[in-house]
Amino acid sequence: MTASPSAAGSGTFKIGGDLAVHRLGFGAMRITGKGIWGEPEDRDEAIRTLKRLPDLGVTFIDTADSYGPFVSEDLIAEALHPYGDILVATKGGLTRHGPNIWMPVGRPEYLRQCVLMSLRRLKVEQIGLWQLHRIDPKVPREEQFGVIADMLKEGLIKHAGLSEVSVEEIEAAQKVFPVATVQNRYNLIDRGSEAVLDHCTAKNIGFIPWFPLAAGDLAKPGTTLDKIVHKANATPSQVALAWVLKRSPVMLPIPGTGKVDHLEDNVAAAGIELTDEDFRALDAQARETV
Ligand SMILES: NC(=O)c1ccc[n+]([C@@H]2O[C@H](COP(=O)([O-])OP(=O)(O)OC[C@H]3O[C@@H](n4cnc5c(N)ncnc54)[C@H](OP(=O)(O)O)[C@@H]3O)[C@@H](O)[C@H]2O)c1
Repeated sequence: MTASPSAAGSGTFKIGGDLAVHRLGFGAMRITGKGIWGEPEDRDEAIRTLKRLPDLGVTFIDTADSYGPFVSEDLIAEALHPYGDILVATKGGLTRHGPNIWMPVGRPEYLRQCVLMSLRRLKVEQIGLWQLHRIDPKVPREEQFGVIADMLKEGLIKHAGLSEVSVEEIEAAQKVFPVATVQNRYNLIDRGSEAVLDHCTAKNIGFIPWFPLAAGDLAKPGTTLDKIVHKANATPSQVALAWVLKRSPVMLPIPGTGKVDHLEDNVAAAGIELTDEDFRALDAQARETV
């Protein structure tokens, strides 16, 4: 670990082939209230956390119109606009009916409104990366993909991605628009998206693992993870992040927090180099345990 951590240590990835970001990003879901609903408990700390991002070399922020809803995008604009070399990626297509309640709405006219309103809240003329938060099963997926293709052509969004999808769904979308990123739940102990990750790696599609910090029970005293944590003078979450970063060059983890000290801890993971041997040992331990 270095004294002043920088996300630059995680290397870069070009989203859609042209938007270069440092691979270790920031998830902006946790700068909202309980249940991802309303204002954060400590608004000043949330703003301080956002303002710390440029100093720490973080150039990729993941948010969504439904975080708050709207609170996360509003705070990002308040703290960081104009964004310099930071890419603020957002998502749409989930409506909110209360704390922890998320309902997909994929009608094309609604998805277009999501983009238009995110443009206003983020105070930009084009969204660098916009992702469909969920494919709505009640709406033909071609209609959802079609309006994304239209918005790409019109320049409202520069690149587009998907969230919580299968390889089959990525391939179906690719027929309608170029899929720049895929955002699925993935971490050391939650490996249900291995096939999707391999597909993204082969096609050079950015893979954004959400909930990347989870290390679960792997860190119990005497385990492989525990030994590596001690060797690296790190925390289990930092080693879990270093592991996902090493797993694939298209991996763009977005650990989320509303606290400056947690942000600094997470960014320090960019400075942790796992050996190939440690990487494989952790992989084996995780596969055995889950
Ligand atoms: N596409 C999707 O469907 C989807 C779903 C969920 C999330 N996401 C995105 O993925 C991002 C990450 O997901 P996530 O927030 O669920 O998981 P995560 O980043 O793995 O974990 C976040 C949790 O860990 C805590 N934490 C963070 N850093 C810490 C540290 N250094 N020490 C101790 N605790 C720490 C946070 O609390 P504190 O705030 O107290 O630090 C928070 O409770 C979100 O912010 C969001 O942008 C996407």
